[in-house]
Amino acid sequence: MCGIVGYVGKRNILEVLISGIKHLEYRGYDSSGIAVLKNNKIFRHRVVGKVFQMESSLPKEFFSNLKTTESVYVGIAHTRWATHGKPSEENAHPHVDCNENFVIVHNGIIENFLELKLKLKNHKFSSETDTEVIIHLIEENYNGSLLEAIKQTIKLLEGSYAFVLISRYQPQKLFFARKDSPLVIGVAEKENFIASDVTAMLKYTNKFLFLENYDYGEISFCEIKIFNLKSENVQHRNINVINWNSQMVEKSGFKHFMLKEIYEQPQVLRENISSRVFGEKIIFNEEIKFKDQMLKKIDKILLIGCGTSYHTAVVCKYFFEHILRVSIEVDIASEFRYRDLILKKNTLAIFISQSGETADTLASLRIVKENKIPTLGVCNVIGSSLYREADSCIYIKCGPEIGVASTKAFTGQLICLYLFGLYIAKIKQTISSNRYLEILNYLYKTPTYIEHILSDTSYIKQLAEKFYTKRDFLYLARGINYPIALEGSLKLKEISYIHAEGYPAGEMKHGPIALIDKDMPVVIIATKGSLLQKVFSNLEEVKSRDAKVIALTNYGIESKSIDYKIVLPETDELVSPIINVVPLQLLAYYIADILGCEIDQPRNLAKSVTVE
Ligand code: AGP
Repeated sequence: MCGIVGYVGKRNILEVLISGIKHLEYRGYDSSGIAVLKNNKIFRHRVVGKVFQMESSLPKEFFSNLKTTESVYVGIAHTRWATHGKPSEENAHPHVDCNENFVIVHNGIIENFLELKLKLKNHKFSSETDTEVIIHLIEENYNGSLLEAIKQTIKLLEGSYAFVLISRYQPQKLFFARKDSPLVIGVAEKENFIASDVTAMLKYTNKFLFLENYDYGEISFCEIKIFNLKSENVQHRNINVINWNSQMVEKSGFKHFMLKEIYEQPQVLRENISSRVFGEKIIFNEEIKFKDQMLKKIDKILLIGCGTSYHTAVVCKYFFEHILRVSIEVDIASEFRYRDLILKKNTLAIFISQSGETADTLASLRIVKENKIPTLGVCNVIGSSLYREADSCIYIKCGPEIGVASTKAFTGQLICLYLFGLYIAKIKQTISSNRYLEILNYLYKTPTYIEHILSDTSYIKQLAEKFYTKRDFLYLARGINYPIALEGSLKLKEISYIHAEGYPAGEMKHGPIALIDKDMPVVIIATKGSLLQKVFSNLEEVKSRDAKVIALTNYGIESKSIDYKIVLPETDELVSPIINVVPLQLLAYYIADILGCEIDQPRNLAKSVTVE
């Protein structure tokens, strides 16, 4: 997945483009490039490495006669996460046609690019990328109208694309098209922007047009024209005002975005609770378009997601089973989409995705929609594909999550789905009023409990110092905290590159216990709950194999087999995952920080996997 930015206007175009793709580096950062059109000549520069390396190596002709405030410039920039062709200068975007009349940046995968390339034998290619095929097709189809050339080109493309291009033939316009990869236009006075997501443009505007599949068009400094392959008419797209400020996409004094986002969790939870809970009543307003009688008839819920969002789904399986007493099925989206599904009526399918752009999750959504099953999205990006395509969508109001390792979005997803579960339980009357209020009360307390954990992280830092050299970790838990063992192990492995596995504690005897020795730290969740005694038995098993045991517990829970106790505020067993995950986020963060890892941009990873 890559980040793309375009600008047309009178600002310092280098500053706008470079600042923009710096805010998109979480989407990919193995190479980057920029192209500006000046005096009807295309200036292009590409490097392997991060945006700052591209910026610091810009040739001086980029800066010469860049008269700001009097001339309108157009330019595009790109930060790459390699899919076709290794990270190299030749494969870095932007790419040009044979005569350098057109230059393009692209995010997505053109699945039929090799077949199309065969039709372009008279063109000279300089990269291994699928993107280059697009720009040569546009060159091939160009007969005086660039819009028509784009229209003819996108009819041939299979797969996903979001591209922006500029041309010497139209020196004051940006051109664009999108399908299945996100693309947003930033609207301002006498200037316009386009990018993969809003964070690249928040510094300049908070008004955005979210493009839809098969949209294409052109943008000048004063006009935006949108067309769609499915219609002959000019398209209208509503302007969305996003109340995120540019400060929110900065680190605000934290060493890493991930740490900032861990500390934002209490505020995120309060925002989500206070905007939906009024006394004993939970109100979702326009987020939930389903009628109460439809929800009352629901007898099966599907929960689908990837990575951390899948872990959210697993936590909610336990929670929904308890309070709704209906059948719950969870699955990883990349598996779900290829199954021989049996979808029945009175099913509600819930798709969880922070970015709202994860390809497998979107593909699963579209399959379920084709089967006329009601769909609910849970995501953090207004205007994202999931936000627009699901029948209803709960916006988790976390603000931009920049760190690749998801933290505040995880707890944000949980709090929103817990409230939604209680909302349905009230309609279905599947729990008593007392139990409803008891759970709601514990949810109210959760931000304060998390603040308590964040108020003193010194012990977790000490544990990180003690264990950062270890090469394997095991995370164990039972019941509703089993997915927290999965999430804690994912956090550690994705930012520190240390191997870690989450396992149901009861599964130890079926194999994993063979791994345990004195060099393997075992993190076990032993907080108050109906299975605590079972967890203690598992604790004995691992201790008798000389493991070093780090336990998450509550005040008053004692065991001589625990070597290191992280004592947490006691809460309802069902609510405990939202609290128990926080020390595991911190443990992973501090270990990775000691190791000097690229915490916000871990190797090989991107923030949103918009390709299969
Ligand atoms: C989580 O820390 C990872 N970055 C990753 O597993 C992520 O949760 C997954 O790719 C799903 O992303 P989404 O929530 O945007 O769909």
